[in-house]
Amino acid sequence: MSEREKKLAMLDELRRNIIDNNICSNLAEQATQLVMGEGNVDAAIVLIGEAPGKKEDERGVPFVGAAGKFLNEMLLRAGMERNDVYITNIVKYRPPKNRDPSPEEKAAFLPYLLEQLRIIQPSIVITLGRHSMEYFLPNARISDVHGQVIQTEFQGQAMTVVPLYHPAAALYNGSMRQVLIDDFVHIAMILEKQG
Ligand code: URA
Repeated sequence: MSEREKKLAMLDELRRNIIDNNICSNLAEQATQLVMGEGNVDAAIVLIGEAPGKKEDERGVPFVGAAGKFLNEMLLRAGMERNDVYITNIVKYRPPKNRDPSPEEKAAFLPYLLEQLRIIQPSIVITLGRHSMEYFLPNARISDVHGQVIQTEFQGQAMTVVPLYHPAAALYNGSMRQVLIDDFVHIAMILEKQG
């Protein structure tokens, strides 16, 4: 079995564990399916959003709705495709009516997110929006730190985190669009320099 196949098998087991352990059964009962993640399991970059929306719930893939379209554009502008990164969310079931995930729901999924990161071993974690940033940089304000490459320690592990605004913010705020694209292109340049 190749390293990639091993990772895929471990991620599949993780998915089964979430279901078998009845994580957030309140959300699971109302959701169509678990949205685990998508992309390249060997990627250097993992992007972490908040929770699936309606389209994601229907298709079982993260970021395929309107925010996802903009995320694809951000990737393209930085010379990347979806398959150059791995994309997931903190909470892996759609909250009803797209409400914010509760602190309890986020906490319930945290061990699974950590395990996902341990399996994929990215060199950079990009948080999309406040909910996902809060985990890694609990004292930061997104308006102060967006687009910065921050070395931090998370659960005893050294980690490079880049907080970005959530792509959905660009759908409501035109100037945010450019901020997000600029931040993402900047990160891609830094990564390229690092080789
Ligand atoms: N917003 C998110 O945070 N995640 C998705 O998968 C889709 C929209």
